[in-house]
Amino acid sequence: MSSGSEHKLWGGRFAGGPAPELEAVNRSITVDLRLWPFDIALSKAWAAALGIAGVLTDPEVAAIRSGLDRVGARIAAGEAPIGSDEDVHTFVDRLLHQEAGEPAGRLHTGRSRNDQVATGTRLWTRDAIATVIGQLREVQRAILEQAEAHVDAIMPAYTHLQRAQPVSVAHWLLSHFWALERDLVRLRAAHGSAGVLPLGSGAIAGSAFPVPRDHLREALGFERISANSIDAVGDRDFIADALYALTVLGTHLSRIGEDLILFGSSEFGFVRFGDAFSTGSSMMPQKRNPDALELARGSGARMLGGLTALLATLKGLPSGYNKDLQEDKRALFDAMDGMRLLLPAVAGSIATLSFDRTRMRSAVTTAMMATDLADYLVRKRVTFRDAHGAVGRLVREAEERGIEMSALPFESFAAAHAAFERDVLDELRPETSLGHRELPGGTGIEAVRSQVEMARNALVAT
Ligand code: ARG
Repeated sequence: MSSGSEHKLWGGRFAGGPAPELEAVNRSITVDLRLWPFDIALSKAWAAALGIAGVLTDPEVAAIRSGLDRVGARIAAGEAPIGSDEDVHTFVDRLLHQEAGEPAGRLHTGRSRNDQVATGTRLWTRDAIATVIGQLREVQRAILEQAEAHVDAIMPAYTHLQRAQPVSVAHWLLSHFWALERDLVRLRAAHGSAGVLPLGSGAIAGSAFPVPRDHLREALGFERISANSIDAVGDRDFIADALYALTVLGTHLSRIGEDLILFGSSEFGFVRFGDAFSTGSSMMPQKRNPDALELARGSGARMLGGLTALLATLKGLPSGYNKDLQEDKRALFDAMDGMRLLLPAVAGSIATLSFDRTRMRSAVTTAMMATDLADYLVRKRVTFRDAHGAVGRLVREAEERGIEMSALPFESFAAAHAAFERDVLDELRPETSLGHRELPGGTGIEAVRSQVEMARNALVAT
């Protein structure tokens, strides 16, 4: 099998070697090399399991396990694959032969790269998701800190991107916090769905040696063992789950990005981006660009592409392992890499934002309290339908006269509806509008304070 420095895991049944064109297309090491720490970990566990199964002697297990440690040290120190290393499993195996000699040739007993790659990829995925969860928490922390500082600041909330009703700035900020909290649930679920051990499934039918799978499960930190070897080697649902969780998270980061980009434009001027998270222009000296947030806005797209590519690959695939599955890691790594770069940049962008309270407050026009005027009438037993009509006439009148509703004479209110009294002007203050909304989930200042508390508890809970 090994000729010169070349090392192959297969080939005995062929008269000649593979064509270079085949080798080129088949080779996955440029993508899967990064699985090496997990490939080594699972091989060490496999060696121990083969020992328990009576396949390897204790000295052989020890030689393989210490050999694998030395292989890990060599790769960590920068040892690079050679041209004939088809994938990470071949690479590690070649180095192990150099380190451990004859016992290395016994390690592949009862296993296949099919259960090996499924196991390694699951380990990698769980590790990466744990990192992403930690980074996601930092984004939430940044949002929460800004929210805590802006509970009593008031801004317009928008529907259809038209000024709708006044809200607490913290209320708007926390709207993004809760979306990320749902992402956390999805990421944890994806972590759980990757928590099934395939090792012991062999190529398709299960290992022919009595390896203690529960021992393997425990050694590698999995939660369950696969129930069916055919399913185990062909199952990439855990990657789809991870990609879906990342795609939705990317979508949320994108919406955060868009809100902030919009609010940071001169036309809005609600927020100012921190120097450390702004870029300049090569031509226009005045520019302060929110690049990190723009990249956040762009991020969900490629992740969605990866998810779509994976699902398209899985759909229609026959049972068991098929080489098409080798493409799974490209999408997974790309999405995870992108996310791990993005989250710290979004956290930093949010943490360094400054808010212009005055500008936000002055963007709240009295017409935005039109619903509150209607509600005022409703409290006086007018039907909402009639109240809506009466206030609509007032809105039109103010608009035609080019003035704020608060500047209309009381006669106009009285003419619009007999139930209006002089205290109606108080309803046109945004603070009054917020004050009516002290129910759970509403934007009343006290309700928002409890929401901040809930968010704080959510962060502590983990
Ligand atoms: N490089 C392969 C992959 O990533 C490993 C599994 C190969 N299995 C096989 N029977 N050729 O999917």
